[in-house]
Amino acid sequence: MVPMDRGLMPARSFRPRRRGLPPARAEQYARLAPHWTLPIDGPLLVWSEVFTAVFDRASGVVLDIGFGGGEGLIEMAALRPDECVIGVEVHTPGVARVLDAVEANHWRHVRVVEGDVLELLPRLTNRSLDGVRIWFPDPWPKTKQRHRRLVSPPVVAALTDRLRIGGVLHVATDVDDYARHTIAVIGDELRLCGGVVPRPEWRPVTRFEARGRREGRTSIDLVYERMS
Ligand SMILES: C[S@@+](CC[C@H](N)C(=O)[O-])C[C@H]1O[C@@H](n2cnc3c(N)ncnc32)[C@H](O)[C@@H]1O
Repeated sequence: MVPMDRGLMPARSFRPRRRGLPPARAEQYARLAPHWTLPIDGPLLVWSEVFTAVFDRASGVVLDIGFGGGEGLIEMAALRPDECVIGVEVHTPGVARVLDAVEANHWRHVRVVEGDVLELLPRLTNRSLDGVRIWFPDPWPKTKQRHRRLVSPPVVAALTDRLRIGGVLHVATDVDDYARHTIAVIGDELRLCGGVVPRPEWRPVTRFEARGRREGRTSIDLVYERMS
C-alpha cells in the first residue's frame, strides 16, 4: 500500500477550533476514549481485529469523514447495525457525543478517530472500505481558500485506493459551487463512475443540512462507485 505522498497533501480542510468539554462530558470522554477510539497513527488497521465479535456478520466498513456533531453518524449507526463505521473528526465535542452514543447503545460496530483524516489515511489498507461518506464538507467558498477543500485530486485518489471495487464514495453538499467542484475533481478519477442522485431518504438531516434549508439552500448528493 502506498500512503499519500506528503508533498501532495492538501492544506488543512478545517479551521482548528479549541472547545473544551463540560466536566461530566470530559470525565465520560476520558473513560470511553481508550475503548472506542483508534489512534490516528500506527500500523495498518485490520477490520477483523478492530471490530472483533461483530465483524463476521458485518456487511462492510464505511469511513465517515468529518461527522461534525455526530448526529448523522449516530442515526446511520442505529439504522444499519450490520455496517461497521469508522468516524473521523477533528473536533472533540462531536467525538464525545458519538462515544456517548456508543456506550448508551452498547454498539460494537462504531469506532472513532479524533483528528485529520489525511493523517489517518496511511492506516487504511487499499481496497479495505465499502464506503466513504463526506457529508457537507466545509465549503471554503472564497477563491483563495479553495485549495483547502477536502475534495481534491490527491485526497480523492487516496480514498479511491482504499475503496474496494464496487465500494461507494458519497459526497453531499448544499453549496452549488462545491458540487460543481466535486463533479470536476471526481470526473478526473477514472476508477470512479457516478454523479448526481436524488437525495436518499435514509440520509439523516443533520444540523448543517437543516441550517442550509432554513437559509434556502438545496442539498445535492453525489454518489460514485469504484469500477476498477
Ligand atoms: C460542515 S461540517 C459537516 C458535519 C457533518 N458531516 C454533517 O453533515 O453534519 C464539516 C466537518 O468536517 C470536519 N473536517 C473538515 N476537514 C476534516 C479533516 N481533514 N478530517 C476530519 N474532519 C474534518 C470539520 O471539523 C467539520 O466538523
